[in-house]
Amino acid sequence: MPYPFQITSYDQYKETYKHSVEQPDEFWGGVAENFTWRKKWDKVLEWDFRKPDIKWFINGKLNITENCLDRHLAQAGDRPALIWEPNSKEEAHRVITYKELHTSVCTFAQVLKNNGVKKGDRVCLYMGMVPELPIAMLACARIGAIHSVIFGGFSAQSISDRLQDAQAEFIITGDGAYRGGKDIPLKSTIDDALVSCPFVKKVIVYLRTHTPISMIKGRDVWWDDEIKKVTAHGNISTEAEEMDAEDPLFILYTSGSTGKPKGVVHTSAGYMVYTTYTFVNIFQYQPGDVHFCTADIGWITGHTYIVYSVLCAGGTSLMYEGLPTWPDAGRMWDIVDKHKVNILYTAPTAIRSLMAYGLAPLEGKDLSSLKILGTVGEPINEEAWHWYDVHIGKKRCPIVDTWWQTETGATLISNLAGVTPAKPSYATLPLPGIQPVLVDEQGKEITGNDVSGNLCIRFPWPSIIRTTYGDHERCRTNYFATYDNMYFTGDGCYRDENGFYRITGRVDDVLNVSGHRIGTAEVENAINMHTGVLESAVVGYPHDLKGQGIYAYVIMEADPEDAKLTQSDILQTVTRVIGPIARPDKIQFVKGLPKTRSGKIMRRILRKIAEGEINNLGDTSTLLDPGIVNEIKEGRI
Ligand code: WT7
Repeated sequence: MPYPFQITSYDQYKETYKHSVEQPDEFWGGVAENFTWRKKWDKVLEWDFRKPDIKWFINGKLNITENCLDRHLAQAGDRPALIWEPNSKEEAHRVITYKELHTSVCTFAQVLKNNGVKKGDRVCLYMGMVPELPIAMLACARIGAIHSVIFGGFSAQSISDRLQDAQAEFIITGDGAYRGGKDIPLKSTIDDALVSCPFVKKVIVYLRTHTPISMIKGRDVWWDDEIKKVTAHGNISTEAEEMDAEDPLFILYTSGSTGKPKGVVHTSAGYMVYTTYTFVNIFQYQPGDVHFCTADIGWITGHTYIVYSVLCAGGTSLMYEGLPTWPDAGRMWDIVDKHKVNILYTAPTAIRSLMAYGLAPLEGKDLSSLKILGTVGEPINEEAWHWYDVHIGKKRCPIVDTWWQTETGATLISNLAGVTPAKPSYATLPLPGIQPVLVDEQGKEITGNDVSGNLCIRFPWPSIIRTTYGDHERCRTNYFATYDNMYFTGDGCYRDENGFYRITGRVDDVLNVSGHRIGTAEVENAINMHTGVLESAVVGYPHDLKGQGIYAYVIMEADPEDAKLTQSDILQTVTRVIGPIARPDKIQFVKGLPKTRSGKIMRRILRKIAEGEINNLGDTSTLLDPGIVNEIKEGRI
């Protein structure tokens, strides 16, 4: 068996789980033995959730890129590490072997050094889905710089906020990115962001779309020119920087219930060990398998299951530049057929949108290479689960439903493909080392089965969030203060009669729109910036394709003369402030909002109205102005 820590039977899972909970140090120490260390750890774990202060593999020294690249060279140097499928069917795909990826990473690591990047510096990556993105991430990791990837759908304002928060002095971007029929203007968005970020020293630009851009003297340089400067000197071997186990590896911004996104910090060793452990076990990965995760690398799913875990396992990762439905709804199946994909990992929203096209796009596509299917990002409805099972997996591919978060680094609850039982719409059982707890509003543990509550985790795992960048207190209050001595996920959860877990969705003010995480407060702040807006309240509502849609109630200073025009103006402002992903689906102008006497907005009522449950609004007697509810009900869109 290629991976000594791969679990291959249900009984073995049960034994392993028991061991992991009873002897966590011994268990994780054993898993960590399978990686390359410059120096092994003195102690496996020290933790205190109340601070929080969590350290794994204390005093261990390593570089994650030696685990992702160097250690595979001797045995598997010619094995494909990355397969890249471009946006356009006309363009040739690229296959990058471990040897080639190693060389590219080392070369670009030298480019970073030449441009003044040092260990601990923050480097912002704002790129499309091209192989140069993982190359840049790994090059940062190689020299100990901390990358912060920003999804290409975020606006200049959002980029600027993130650059300032991280004090990132270096940026890697492209002239543009291809996504479906559109060219996304990356560099010009960066230029807009940099107006308010004079501390940025260098911008490295990768040429992809040949979009006209402006290059600022002394600040902006071309990726290819910089590479040529390095390769002109012949042999390249950028020695990997020796990193402490707890040195930060990357920052990834994510939305919470407050208006400002927070920079989730992951560290080297724990992230490496846990992500790889979950990858090999959940997907039952076998060397040579082609793993296709359809996420964008701008989100945690791409970081973990396109880049780091797959490469650490010596696997082959397929990355796709474009959209699943472009140029037609058969594109995903073309890719599976063309590259003989063995593992397909995607989001329920993608499954639902492909499902809506019917079965015609599947005709003539050979999907027989598929062995395992996965979903992630939001609860999957049973209809989508069965469609995936019948029409894509042809009832012979186990489906894994992987529940996790940006903050958890990798999957915490999931079945192991073909090894532990699956149940439609259930993430099922915790991975070894993961101790889920359901609690009630008062923080009291809910024991037994067939119960629901808020999902917490009572013991650390190696890739747990360490801090929120620049503001540790925020990390504490967000995740570790709601319930004493536990990590709070923000999700609601049901545990069935057999102890299987089903995630029911967020219990805080965080929305999940097409698998994108968006805080309602962020959208409200953006709407409130629009001229004439007095106040707004944003809630989610069930949406057939997106999972959740965004419903905004907006109070204007004066009745808009042209409501349609004002609505589209507000959408423009939201696009400008956050990005197109945060655009409300519905905007209702209202005269007031349902508030308690203390001024708190009763979101429960607004959610019910948005959901269309207008006859069952519960107790409204504590409202300051109960009459407002009828008015809002009547104006419902
Ligand atoms: C939130 C985290 C994990 C990578 C992608 C999203 C929801 C995630 C599932 C699932 C039900 C899920 C949760 C979670 N979620 N996976 N399998 N079943 N819900 O990462 O942006 O940090 O969002 O996504 O609500 O809290 P994220």
